[in-house]
Amino acid sequence: MDERIIATDAQAADDWQYSLRPRRLSEYIGQDKAKQNLSVFVKAALTRREALDHVLLYGPPGLGKTTLANIIANELNVNFRPTSGPAIERAGDLAAILTNLQPRDVLFIDEIHRLSRQIEEILYSAMEDFALDIIIGKGPSARSIRLDIAPFTLIGATTKAGALSPPLRDRFGVISRLEYYSTDALIEIITRAAQILKIPIEAGGAQEIARRSRGTPRIANRLLKRVRDFAQVEGSATITDDIADRALLALEVDRAGLDHTDRRMLDAMIKKFRGGPVGLETIAASISETRETIEDIYEPYLLQLGFIMRTPRGRVVTELGWRHMGIAYPKSDAPTLFDFDD
Ligand SMILES: Nc1ncnc2c1ncn2[C@@H]1O[C@H](COP(=O)(O)OP(=O)(O)OP(=O)(O)O)[C@@H](O)[C@H]1O
Ligand SMILES: [Mg+2]
Repeated sequence: MDERIIATDAQAADDWQYSLRPRRLSEYIGQDKAKQNLSVFVKAALTRREALDHVLLYGPPGLGKTTLANIIANELNVNFRPTSGPAIERAGDLAAILTNLQPRDVLFIDEIHRLSRQIEEILYSAMEDFALDIIIGKGPSARSIRLDIAPFTLIGATTKAGALSPPLRDRFGVISRLEYYSTDALIEIITRAAQILKIPIEAGGAQEIARRSRGTPRIANRLLKRVRDFAQVEGSATITDDIADRALLALEVDRAGLDHTDRRMLDAMIKKFRGGPVGLETIAASISETRETIEDIYEPYLLQLGFIMRTPRGRVVTELGWRHMGIAYPKSDAPTLFDFDD
């Protein structure tokens, strides 16, 4: 699969986005519920001079989980030690990380749902008792010793809270779900980013980009940068709504934030299957994608927009979805403009 401009996963070309990462809770836009709760817990932990309770952040990619974890460590004035589920392969890897923590440090484990069962079990006693049970030797002479570690805060991030084992989930004192951002919050994020990157932008331009960013700051920042390129090539100093609109259409990001792949999928569902219900496997085969790609990458945003629906018999394109594709909805009273070729 080639890289989609509206892809939610981090891409190599996104490195510059680090400079846009807010450092303090007060700079972190949106996510008011999570922010309010966390600021109370952070203050309480600071007053008691204790490690903050373990925090689980979950939600779709690109919404700012890593950014928020970083901010928590900043607010607590402690070290931020990032790692990820797939990176911790052996028990020794985890033991090395844990024994090197300073008191109250933040250990950040990204993609925490991908930890192996064996590593997870070691983590239980570390989280609960700040101790590590290590087995030395093999066979009948093996014995277990207990190592104390500094009290620390584990911040886990995951896009799939459901994939986390219940015993691990239960050991988090704070569980925060990040939501898709409103257009207003995205406008603020884009305006802030434009300021940092010294890109002149009008309010209308920021709004045009925000509306097409799929509720996701990472995409908003990426689109801003591409629109800036477009404006420069056109010799325009400022990003206006008109330039943003034309740039995004040129990049094949339509007015709802769909790209050609989303549109290809909706198109196939409507033209080949009369809008469904049609099974995931069938959709996948008809646009030569895998079932997983559709389920994890294309479908969530289409569901969020209400353009498709899940039913027991398969996926269905809603009336909104037909309209968005510019095709009259055949199940309504309006006469259909579209001829099925079967
Ligand atoms: N609340 C916010 N305010 C301003 N900018 C933000 C905010 N949240 C995220 N960003 C921007 O979006 C980018 C992506 O955020 P981040 O890397 O934290 O997402 P993530 O949720 O960790 O994604 P993933 O699930 O892919 O790891 C950041 O580089 C940052 O510039
Ligand atoms: Mg991240």
